[in-house]
Amino acid sequence: MRNLACIVLILVTITNRGTNIANAEEEVVEVELEWNWEAGVPHYPHPKYSDDDEVLFFPRIIGGTPAFHGEFLAKISLQTRRGHHFCGGSIIDLRHVLTAAHCLTELDGRVIHPNDIRLMGDDLSIDSRGARTRQIRFATHIFAYPNYHALTLENDIAVVRVSVAFHQTPTLQPMPRSRMTPNPNEVCQLAGWGVIHEDRNRPHPVLLRVELDVISMDFCNGTSSYNGLIPANTICAGTMDGSRDACFGDSGGGLICSNQIAGVVSFGFGCGRRNFPGIYADVSRYNVWINECIDSNLPHEDIPRPPIISNSVGKFHPPTKYLLVMIAAAVWMIFNKV
Ligand SMILES: *[C@@H]1O[C@H](CO)[C@@H](O)[C@H](O)[C@H]1NC(C)=O
Repeated sequence: MRNLACIVLILVTITNRGTNIANAEEEVVEVELEWNWEAGVPHYPHPKYSDDDEVLFFPRIIGGTPAFHGEFLAKISLQTRRGHHFCGGSIIDLRHVLTAAHCLTELDGRVIHPNDIRLMGDDLSIDSRGARTRQIRFATHIFAYPNYHALTLENDIAVVRVSVAFHQTPTLQPMPRSRMTPNPNEVCQLAGWGVIHEDRNRPHPVLLRVELDVISMDFCNGTSSYNGLIPANTICAGTMDGSRDACFGDSGGGLICSNQIAGVVSFGFGCGRRNFPGIYADVSRYNVWINECIDSNLPHEDIPRPPIISNSVGKFHPPTKYLLVMIAAAVWMIFNKV
């Protein structure tokens, strides 16, 4: 019976998760993650909206301050067709945006259709009104790294081609990609959209920026941190005390080191937790593939895709998935009088 109580407790934690965060004040709420490490690395959940466009859950960068217009020249918001932000990206040339593969694939690794998204650049706000400089583009191709693995988040990198090139302005420009892995202790910058809660749950989003330290892989992949879970070709960045970090909706955004795109926000255990900095795909390891995408003239149907990992898990959102597993466990325990 004690086990049952424990399971119910976890259930409540998970079902309350969205509401807790939506109601949060300026301060960041720690998400209680009951993580099953066997199920793969901890993914950053994306912002969630109800069917009526109400914001259910909107995460934010940890310890950031507002960015100024033009500070992150290549910054892109990946949005649903209806204009809801769900991930970040970086303009690498005027027709291509670099982001994370997990932003553009279902949980089973299936790549989403380019018609399902739009891209917004040259604006600090993801508000529906927007600045006069705002540029919206639609996607024609999504290239997800063919060896991307949806459970382990290996090779979590993707390129989106837009139908009409972005228009270069003083505040929107492609950024060069780094050709070297940044060294530990190097200071890098990250930007992402966060919200200030006003008028109850209405978001008032502005782009936030944060400085992050590159942290040695020996520490991050070691026993007091991710303990062997970090895939190859990644960068670990944040602060040891967790005071500055990327968070959920920042996925896909570019980690800027020495004015070059060096990393892509991939995953982390919670946000801003002590000893668990964020993990970024190491752009320098993917330059050859990225160039191939840019030069590719394959029809969309012929672009190589990641394998699909299973037929069933991907259909549900992660909370639904765990909910179902736990309800099943609870029912089993009741019937077996554990
Ligand atoms: C982390 O450790 C695991 C297990 O030893 C290893 O397979 C993996 O390549 C390591 N990751 C990095 C980035 O070194």
